[in-house]
Amino acid sequence: MTSLTINGQTVELDVDPRTTLLDALREHLKLTGSKKGCDHGQCGACTVLLDGERVNSCLVLFAGCEGQDVTTIEGLGTEDNLGAMQRAFVSHDAFQCGYCTPGQICSAVATLKEVERGDASIVTGKDDVHLSRIEVQERMSGNICRCGAYNNIVDAVIETGSSDGQKEAAE
Ligand code: FES
Ligand code: FES
Repeated sequence: MTSLTINGQTVELDVDPRTTLLDALREHLKLTGSKKGCDHGQCGACTVLLDGERVNSCLVLFAGCEGQDVTTIEGLGTEDNLGAMQRAFVSHDAFQCGYCTPGQICSAVATLKEVERGDASIVTGKDDVHLSRIEVQERMSGNICRCGAYNNIVDAVIETGSSDGQKEAAE
């Protein structure tokens, strides 16, 4: 039996130890917001937050999440009460078919946190981390979207980060 918290609710589930977090969410818990694209850690469609950090849930075993805290797209807001990043994606038309959008939004939420605490990336050294377009593009590059909405996604992430008090440094 694995016990963990999902979107603020304690969940106990007994599944085959080979079951991924993604399959447990979708098939056993009916939380179908997280999408299965490649199932190989390459597309980001399955991204969720695990103890606040983004992970590809297709690469994580559910049984390994004992005692941890999972947030999925369903935990970031509801249809009637969207979260800030969800609202920004809507207002910037940052999705097309929408299949990969839940993963993009989870990734974007974690991106803001990474920038805020100054995590270094390949495009900025640890002394120069700010919410620039290039920083957002680099950090979101693991979420592959084939609908060409990248500019709108970057706009949505920067707007949300800026309204959170982070300084926009986009050119
Ligand atoms: S489905 Fe997990 S990264 Fe593609
Ligand atoms: S929104 Fe369709 S693949 Fe990304």
